[in-house]
Amino acid sequence: MIPQTNPKLSYIAHKNEIDTAIAAMLDAGRYILGEQVRKFEEEFAAFLGAKYSIGVGNGTDAVELALRALKIGQGDVVATVAHTAVATVAAIELSGAKPLFIDIRPDTFVMDPEKLKLALTNNRSASVKAVLPVHLYGNVSEVFKILEVASEFGIPVIEDCAQAHGAKMNGRFAGTSGVISAFSFYPTKNLGALGDGGAVVTSDENLKNQVTLLREYGWKERYVSHIAGKNSRLDEIQAAILRVKLKYLQEENSTRQNLARMYINGLGGLPVTLPVWGIAESHVFHQFVIRTSRRDDLKAFLKTHGVDTLIHYPVPVHLQPAYLNSLCGDGGLKQTEMVAGEILSLPMFPQLSTEQVSEIVSIIRKFFE
Ligand SMILES: Cc1ncc(COP(=O)(O)O)c(C=O)c1O
Repeated sequence: MIPQTNPKLSYIAHKNEIDTAIAAMLDAGRYILGEQVRKFEEEFAAFLGAKYSIGVGNGTDAVELALRALKIGQGDVVATVAHTAVATVAAIELSGAKPLFIDIRPDTFVMDPEKLKLALTNNRSASVKAVLPVHLYGNVSEVFKILEVASEFGIPVIEDCAQAHGAKMNGRFAGTSGVISAFSFYPTKNLGALGDGGAVVTSDENLKNQVTLLREYGWKERYVSHIAGKNSRLDEIQAAILRVKLKYLQEENSTRQNLARMYINGLGGLPVTLPVWGIAESHVFHQFVIRTSRRDDLKAFLKTHGVDTLIHYPVPVHLQPAYLNSLCGDGGLKQTEMVAGEILSLPMFPQLSTEQVSEIVSIIRKFFE
């Protein structure tokens, strides 16, 4: 079976370096917020061209702490999308705020800036305190338009970069255009740990200080809380692993892009909608997602021919039992609901071979014959 993703292969690809880094870290004897976390924070910020990165426990906490650092909480509303990992929305709720769901563009699958403008223009805008776009599947295409709309209304943009490590737009890395951004290092991500991990990225010193307090009980010095915080620390062992993997991020993103190019060339002419990929560096293909009205049959056909696929995501967040009473932008979420029934994530990870992509392409062509 060709898997849809395979984080173990990513470990094996860098096994010697990772094992050595872990051994050294274990030997150093500092297991929480030590040298590895500090160095990773510096290296990740430098890679992105941001001033600060703060390691936290996971990507959900990264979004929550970014919101809390901006003093967003009870009584506030955050405009986001329902076509995302539920974690984005869980984080908004953890901060005390509520989501306002904005519809997506059916071609890029990310927040539609026009729909955002409509939602902010109507009378709900009073309590909308921030915009939280998600660079879904590795695509940052609409971020500058969203920034423009948000700045018209004087509210900050928090980028959810959990799926877009290393993606660039107008020469800037995802996570450096909004005032603050959140990353996840879940093992399958483009930059993945071997366990949970996350980071908040910002170039604002005040926000950096806030997140640093919030991630460890509000401590400036040990055992004295200056604000009410929580425990959300990036593990020293994960930081050691991430420092190794960060060195290969750009190379692995290029491999993903080459595989995406193969898929796009191979699937041309078929009745499937292929990913929009405007500028080469704008998409790092965390997922390679196609759209077809025959999605379920194609998924089953691929499975019987030894190819595993996934659906990111089958049920939009506003239709999930926990979130049925959420606010939705004007005009509803028609595109969000439509794409959920038609999207299919094909295998995509840097260790996938070109032979495997050719095989997957031939199986899909056979299905449509
Ligand atoms: C878009 C998005 N936001 C947030 C998260 C949350 O990350 P984590 O699983 O590390 O909490 C994820 C990862 O699952 C994600 O894909």
